[in-house]
Amino acid sequence: MKKPSSIQKPDGKLLVLLPGLGAVSTTFIAGCMLVRRGLSKPIGSMTQLGTIRLGKRTDNRIPKIRDLVPLAGLDELEFASWDLFDENAYESAVNAKVLEPRDLEPIKEELESVRPFKAAFYPEYVKRLDGRHAKTASSKADMVEQLRADIRGALEAKGCTRAVAVWCGSTEIYIEPGPVHQSVEAFEKGLANDDPAISNSMLYAWACLKEGVPFANGAPNLTVDFPAAEELAKRTSAPTAGKDFKTGQTLMKTILAPGFKARMLGLSGWFSTNILGNRDGEVLDDPESFKTKEVSKLGVLEHILQPEVYPDLYGDVYHKVRINYYPPRGDAKEGWDNIDLTGWLGYPMQIKVDFLCRDSILAAPIVLDLAILLDLAKRAGFGGVQEWLSFFFKSPQTAAGLYPEHDLFIQSMKLKNTLRWMVGEDLITHLGNEYYD
Ligand SMILES: NC(=O)c1ccc[n+]([C@@H]2O[C@H](COP(=O)([O-])OP(=O)(O)OC[C@H]3O[C@@H](n4cnc5c(N)ncnc54)[C@H](O)[C@@H]3O)[C@@H](O)[C@H]2O)c1
Repeated sequence: MKKPSSIQKPDGKLLVLLPGLGAVSTTFIAGCMLVRRGLSKPIGSMTQLGTIRLGKRTDNRIPKIRDLVPLAGLDELEFASWDLFDENAYESAVNAKVLEPRDLEPIKEELESVRPFKAAFYPEYVKRLDGRHAKTASSKADMVEQLRADIRGALEAKGCTRAVAVWCGSTEIYIEPGPVHQSVEAFEKGLANDDPAISNSMLYAWACLKEGVPFANGAPNLTVDFPAAEELAKRTSAPTAGKDFKTGQTLMKTILAPGFKARMLGLSGWFSTNILGNRDGEVLDDPESFKTKEVSKLGVLEHILQPEVYPDLYGDVYHKVRINYYPPRGDAKEGWDNIDLTGWLGYPMQIKVDFLCRDSILAAPIVLDLAILLDLAKRAGFGGVQEWLSFFFKSPQTAAGLYPEHDLFIQSMKLKNTLRWMVGEDLITHLGNEYYD
């Protein structure tokens, strides 16, 4: 990334494009509407509540992040979406059962005005869904063109100067990058030939990148994580980020594991299981969609613990992740972790974590922060993968050949130092003055 000589001001309204108008999207949209009316608080959002230390500790300069860098304000956000069900955002939020009627009723009319476009949907990529609100197209290339027309139409209809997209659609079946994903030319040929390795979410990502619209991927799908997308994103100066919002169990893992490692405690096993009953849980009940999620969740420990560097501590860790669809629980997921630790002389210890979390309540502020920070990245002239946004993801995308950083505290440091660097402030290294004298 090249240091920006200046960052364009966030003039005009910002359109947030959301493929998938389900639990996460509607919780995010409703939250923005409630907060800007002063009816609630944006808890969990770094861009709304976070501060950043500048200079020496004694300088006492700790502005809000939004006062350091020029960010779009909540009042400037507009929303547009696609879904294969034709419910508006209010109806979808009611069905998702994340927010209570007391929160939905005051903003009912505003939510009802968010109606999804017909989806680009080939059912073989999400086997558990059967919606009827879908486009027909002569080819996948034609489907991309239809999505591009939707984006341009929404920008005009809502009077916005620019857009960002965050994929909040269902988790798709597991797809490995293949020949069609290797270059822009190969991918465009694949679109024309309806290549089966091109899934629904890739069509949205491609349409956005073609329009120069930043794109974040909240699911573990390949979507925008392949060389052709990276090449196109650089050509059109569209920042990208992914994959898979870091919310419940994996958030806890990336908080705890760096602590064990810092303390040189060993690990023999980590068993993680979840019960959840929302539509996401139903989709993940399909083994092919679960495989995509499993790969995303399993990578975390390996990268944090570095077994090749610490074979005595982490050379033989048994790591297992299960997700069970359990309808009575709805969106209020429960994630259990059993952690088998080893201490001095190899003596075993155990930690049990039972996180009674709320999936979409944890994900919504991440959607907001990604939309706002990707818009900042675009205005700063950054194109391609934004590794400094790894903080928000279970399976962070990296530039080719690099391994992802999973440690939440390193991710947070990297994000804040990138913001300091963007505006010409000193990076914080936590070295005191005594080292410089
Ligand atoms: N909630 C969390 O904590 C969390 C964490 C990490 C990742 N995610 C991921 O975020 C995504 C959204 O989660 P959710 O709980 O809102 O799920 P959800 O099932 O409530 O919503 C997903 C929506 O996407 C729609 N959809 C599927 N394919 C589509 C397509 N091709 N075009 C347009 N719409 C499409 C579905 O009809 C559905 O309404 C999922 O992939 C999930 O795995 C969620």
